[in-house]
Amino acid sequence: MTIGIGLLGLGTVGAGVAGILATPSGRHPLVGELALRRVAVRDLARPRPVELAAELLTTDPEAVVDDPAVDIVVEVMGGLEPARSLILRAIAAGKPVVTANKAVIARYGEEIAAAAAAQGVYVLIEAAVGGGIPIIEPLKQSLGANRIQRVSGIINGTTNYILSRMAAEGAAYADVLADAQRLGYAEADPAADVQGGDAADKIAILASLAYGGNVPRAAIPTEGIDRLDARDVAYAAQLGYVVKLLAVAQAMPGSPAVPSAQAEQLLDVRVHPTLLPKAHPLAGVNGVNNAILVEGDPVGQVMFYGPGAGAGPTASAVVADILNIAGIRQATGNGTNAPLDPLLAAGSWRPCRLVDSAVTSHRNYVRLRTSDRAGVIGAIGTCFGEAGVSIQSIVQFETQSAGDAEIVVITHEVCEANFRQALAAIEALADVQAVAACLRTL
Ligand SMILES: NC(=O)c1ccc[n+]([C@@H]2O[C@H](COP(=O)([O-])OP(=O)(O)OC[C@H]3O[C@@H](n4cnc5c(N)ncnc54)[C@H](OP(=O)(O)O)[C@@H]3O)[C@@H](O)[C@H]2O)c1
Repeated sequence: MTIGIGLLGLGTVGAGVAGILATPSGRHPLVGELALRRVAVRDLARPRPVELAAELLTTDPEAVVDDPAVDIVVEVMGGLEPARSLILRAIAAGKPVVTANKAVIARYGEEIAAAAAAQGVYVLIEAAVGGGIPIIEPLKQSLGANRIQRVSGIINGTTNYILSRMAAEGAAYADVLADAQRLGYAEADPAADVQGGDAADKIAILASLAYGGNVPRAAIPTEGIDRLDARDVAYAAQLGYVVKLLAVAQAMPGSPAVPSAQAEQLLDVRVHPTLLPKAHPLAGVNGVNNAILVEGDPVGQVMFYGPGAGAGPTASAVVADILNIAGIRQATGNGTNAPLDPLLAAGSWRPCRLVDSAVTSHRNYVRLRTSDRAGVIGAIGTCFGEAGVSIQSIVQFETQSAGDAEIVVITHEVCEANFRQALAAIEALADVQAVAACLRTL
């Protein structure tokens, strides 16, 4: 039984998907059952890396969704609109959807899941996080028995590429970014990557799946790498750490031990540059690779690692989702009354609330610019002590200008409110010129 595929988009990912569908030999036998029926693009004249019959292409994406020969709609056009409306249109027509669109799912996942549940159709999103790395299905299914304590990951390849080169070469952020743009590893407009928004979209999705509730995307505290100083990467290395843009979601104490649909789940979800000890499992993830570390009870630590983007890896995840749906359609006749994915059904989701960051606890790295005078380190230590912040290490680094010093402090795990109180007192010291950098530390 041939299954008709409608593609919304024939860019990097869409062309990768079309390439797999056109070359079924040696792949899962079901790939040979998939037939590309219609493809929406913006510009019919643009040269494509895959050869397709001209009559397949259209500039009308609604015509792809509505085409009776299209059984599964694959949304790989990106952006919020018209992608969201087209996904909802497909669902309303009873057509299952596969999408790689993290931006839409992070913002409208609850609306889309509710519409899919009402219609009894699948919406699968494996490619939305981690490119070719299987992480969505493992979180939804394979790890479903666990209490998830924490999901943390390097889930943006562009920033990981930049940070890896900053660490290896001691290069400045702006220089590496310019080079990454020249080499095609960073977009002409890199804002979504370097300011952390892309990673925030992805951790919102992972947190929603790990904790079974809708995580408010707009409330996720997000800090990118665009203000990161090469000196902090170098000092971190000297102290035994690497700097990574980490996305973290963890359950907070007070969250119900036995979750129910009604009980509110309190979460700490955030994105920021983070110092990782060199022995940490995520510390060795370099270049454009991604990795996600899931910590659960009783499974322990499970790490997923691989290529987080690119035509081939992302298309691999998209086609896997198509095959899942195709397999169910074949097993159930034509797909009507297919069993709904129970873990994505919005009806079983519970409310999630993000905790006020002032009550969270972390280790911190602080770089202070001070005058090079006896007693400064003592005064700084006193400020930390009076605020109840205990220090793991305090190191003075030489600077170019005589009479100045740079002091780096790494704290033990402390409540954010106490840490801020200590920083305010330190900033008021006459010998402290500036709190030059402040980073979280694992
Ligand atoms: N690239 C990756 O490595 C990667 C990895 C994971 C997830 N994703 C996600 O996958 C999605 C697609 O990414 P991509 O990199 O493949 O994007 P892309 O290269 O920019 O391709 C977008 C495609 O959609 C078409 N399109 C856009 N708006 C359209 C409209 N209104 N009507 C008709 N066609 C339209 C474009 O047509 P034209 O070609 O005619 O302009 C193009 O073919 C995004 O949601 C992205 O976040 C991408």
